[in-house]
Amino acid sequence: MSTIDYSEKIPNNVNLAEDRTLKRALEQWQPNYLQWWQDMGPDGSQNFDVYLRTAVSVDPQGWAQFGHVKMPDYRWGIFLNPAEQDRKIHFGDHKGDDAWQDVPGEYRANLRRIIVTQGDTEPASVEQQRHLGLTCPSQYDLRNLFQVNVEEGRHLWAMVYLLHKYFGKDGREEGEALLERNSGNADNPRILEAFNEETPDWLSFFMFTYFTDRDGKFQLCALAESSFDPLARTTKFMLTEEAHHMFVGESGVSRVINRTCQVMNELKTDDPAKLRAAGVIDLPTIQRYLNFHFSVTIDLFGADESSNAATFYSTGLKGRYEEGKRMDDHQLRGQFYKVLNVQNGQLVEKEVPMLNALNEVLRDDYIKDSIGGVERWNKVIEKAGIPVRLSVPHKAFHRNIGLLKGVKVAPDGRVVSEGEWVANRDNWLPSEGDRAFVASLMGRVVDPGKFANWIAPPVMGINRQPVDFEYVRFN
Ligand SMILES: [Fe+2]
Ligand SMILES: [Fe+2]
Repeated sequence: MSTIDYSEKIPNNVNLAEDRTLKRALEQWQPNYLQWWQDMGPDGSQNFDVYLRTAVSVDPQGWAQFGHVKMPDYRWGIFLNPAEQDRKIHFGDHKGDDAWQDVPGEYRANLRRIIVTQGDTEPASVEQQRHLGLTCPSQYDLRNLFQVNVEEGRHLWAMVYLLHKYFGKDGREEGEALLERNSGNADNPRILEAFNEETPDWLSFFMFTYFTDRDGKFQLCALAESSFDPLARTTKFMLTEEAHHMFVGESGVSRVINRTCQVMNELKTDDPAKLRAAGVIDLPTIQRYLNFHFSVTIDLFGADESSNAATFYSTGLKGRYEEGKRMDDHQLRGQFYKVLNVQNGQLVEKEVPMLNALNEVLRDDYIKDSIGGVERWNKVIEKAGIPVRLSVPHKAFHRNIGLLKGVKVAPDGRVVSEGEWVANRDNWLPSEGDRAFVASLMGRVVDPGKFANWIAPPVMGINRQPVDFEYVRFN
């Protein structure tokens, strides 16, 4: 089970060779996927040899192999974590029953929807990031971008496998539709709003991989608890790859901050105009980008009160983050949770049945996790002896879903008037001017070991290679 057959057209550890119908269906989808990659994948990169990691096993020790590959020849495959013997359902109404090896008829529509929604985000982010290679700050960063892109492509494969194997004709149609929707397309957009936003520059990319890939982590963790065992096993392996995406984001932002602090100390100034003139991104601008990406990403968890969330949990389709580590009854009937609401211009807590608040529970777990990295960024600033600190905005800030949708709240959590919002919008969120400035820094740096002026080099290279290693051969 744990070795992957790479002699197959589609590398896999799911015995694809033994399921002729499924194999044929996936082999028909494969050229369409490659066409999508050609049209919507990394711009102008078809001929590069990139130092990529490829999954070769699902063994936590030594699951990946590194080497130069042309991206269109990347071996996108289907890998599931090994089955757990006699796995039982451990939450919801079916708690204690055997986990499902097939889709129960009554949950087919909901499971399909969950898989399609997750699957849709994977190619969406590749589309959002497709032009970034043209303005990379270094070869090291270019390689990391491409690594993230090929793995998001593989995550699409992971979801399409489930659709093809367990959902018959509908599943195959969904597989095609996943290649037809496009990020930001007016007629046929991606399903979730944050995946239709542009990722126009590398600061956005690092914020996206820190904040939005972390949303991916939390969604995948919740699905890794699923009673539908193939979904649980698929998402568990996806999480192995996801960790690197968040590393790219956290270390990327950290290096931007590091470089800014260096220049602040050299010039002995915190004046954004002077720092911008010196070609680095001032900390207030970084804070505004953070505010934007954090707020857009926490919307992805959905409405604070949701009967769908209750259904998905009670029927055992989607658990909570770290369901197995929680000490309650894993059914949650008669339990309550606090969500935020606005009353007479004030944010007030409102108790709602916990089952209906599970989106909010997952959002709150996400917020706790995402604060960790912000604290590590602050350590970089502290070490440079600069008294500024970054912070995540209040969770009611700049929200566009659920009870808080459209409510005007400052980053510190004060409900503000329309006038105060308008007057401060450009202090709280990236302005046109901020975006234009950041865009103006985006040149292409590709000599090995060279880095753009606005970002510090990493402490270490990839896979113990030196920082000035030739991560990309341009041919
Ligand atoms: Fe992903
Ligand atoms: Fe990711």
